[in-house]
Amino acid sequence: MADKGKLSGPRIVVEPPGPRSRSAIKRKERFVTVGLGVSLPAVIDRADGPFLQDVDGNVYLDFTVGLGALNCGHRPKEVVHAWKRQIDKFDHICAMVSMYEPYLRLAEELSRICPGHLGKSLIMNSGSEAIENSVKIAKAYNRKRWLVSYVTGYHGRTYLGLSLMGKEKPFREGFGSMYQNVKLVDFAYCYRCPLDLEYPSCGISCTGLVEEAVTSKKLKDDVCCLVMEPVQGAGGFLCPPPGYWEQIRRICDDNGIILIDDEIQTGFGRTGRLFAIEHWKVEPDIVVTGKSLSMGLPIGAVTGRDEIMSAPTPASLGGTYGGSPICCAGALEAIKLAKRWTSNAKMIHSVEKRRFEEWESRFEEVGDARGLGAMMAIELVRTKKGKEPAPELARKVQLSCFKKGLYVSSGGYFNSVLRLHPPLTITRSLLETGLDILERALKEETKSR
Ligand SMILES: Cc1ncc(COP(=O)(O)O)c(C=O)c1O
Repeated sequence: MADKGKLSGPRIVVEPPGPRSRSAIKRKERFVTVGLGVSLPAVIDRADGPFLQDVDGNVYLDFTVGLGALNCGHRPKEVVHAWKRQIDKFDHICAMVSMYEPYLRLAEELSRICPGHLGKSLIMNSGSEAIENSVKIAKAYNRKRWLVSYVTGYHGRTYLGLSLMGKEKPFREGFGSMYQNVKLVDFAYCYRCPLDLEYPSCGISCTGLVEEAVTSKKLKDDVCCLVMEPVQGAGGFLCPPPGYWEQIRRICDDNGIILIDDEIQTGFGRTGRLFAIEHWKVEPDIVVTGKSLSMGLPIGAVTGRDEIMSAPTPASLGGTYGGSPICCAGALEAIKLAKRWTSNAKMIHSVEKRRFEEWESRFEEVGDARGLGAMMAIELVRTKKGKEPAPELARKVQLSCFKKGLYVSSGGYFNSVLRLHPPLTITRSLLETGLDILERALKEETKSR
């Protein structure tokens, strides 16, 4: 039995999108730019734990959790209480005017929990803004020109974030020139190996693509940093094999390159460790966090080695709301929760792995099942042999899940991946309920049945 007043479900009372959602969506079309893509057409009225309720009364199980921003579900009470406590003291000062305890305590905590020897932080409003600042700080430190990142990576929607990715449509289309000195390289996308090899006999040769790039005539001795996600999120939950990041770390060390670890999506327990890079024996120079750092309010942080973080000119960084006291107070509780629930990623992984592998053998269209911890995805294809991406099918399955009461996100470099972000706090039985819905949607939308 659910607590009184708490949502329970999933429960569809009117075919979604219901009449109230449809009419609200018309207002979205009238008053909100078409540039903001909204993938599912229900309008949300309430959210609670693993559930969303729309304005028509439908309750959905949410396997998107704010695109990975709510690793412990919607409105965890400890975090909400911290927001309320803080708002009763003060809501905004501006960290550039005067310091306050929540900012200081969060900076201290980040230096304690981030992997490696990272002593100082800058706290901002979003992941993208934190990525921007991480690169500014890296530049201030070594004054080199080039940035290296991955074709299938994702680091946000500012001009710099967009410049660090290779996916043109829809992200960059029509937006003109990007930051110029970025070298994009192919990632360890093992299902579609850029070198047409297979792990482990490949010897992880794809790390050679990074080495070739940074030692090329054009870039040699002039690469400032490599910006990477330990497991690529928007790229379709691409997880490099054991040994990959150790080799990349060695390449960075050999060439004086700062390793910037973007943990915005992978952080705070999602992969079964507090930070995904902890699955490899690698210490980054800078860690960038966001999303589940705060579990509900806008935040982003850069945490780096003392000497790097001491490089910028005094007073050269900042922003009006960056490090908001309310966000920082909530984040301190969110981190405690993430620590408590990280181990549940193991249960989620084992349940999803079993189901995904069964689907892989049963459905011609499930080409690949992959992921780390509770960051698991399936890649849909037209045929297993040809591996042609199936973005239309992924969209149909996503919509079919929605109609049945489950939110999942689709994405990936070819828009053909269904990505699951169940909250780490989910029970095994609710997880199975969500996966049953996804299985029914796959059955209905594929030829395999
Ligand atoms: C790995 C990664 N980096 C950066 C960002 C950008 O963060 P934000 O949307 O908070 O600006 C995201 C957002 O999805 C992300 O997944």
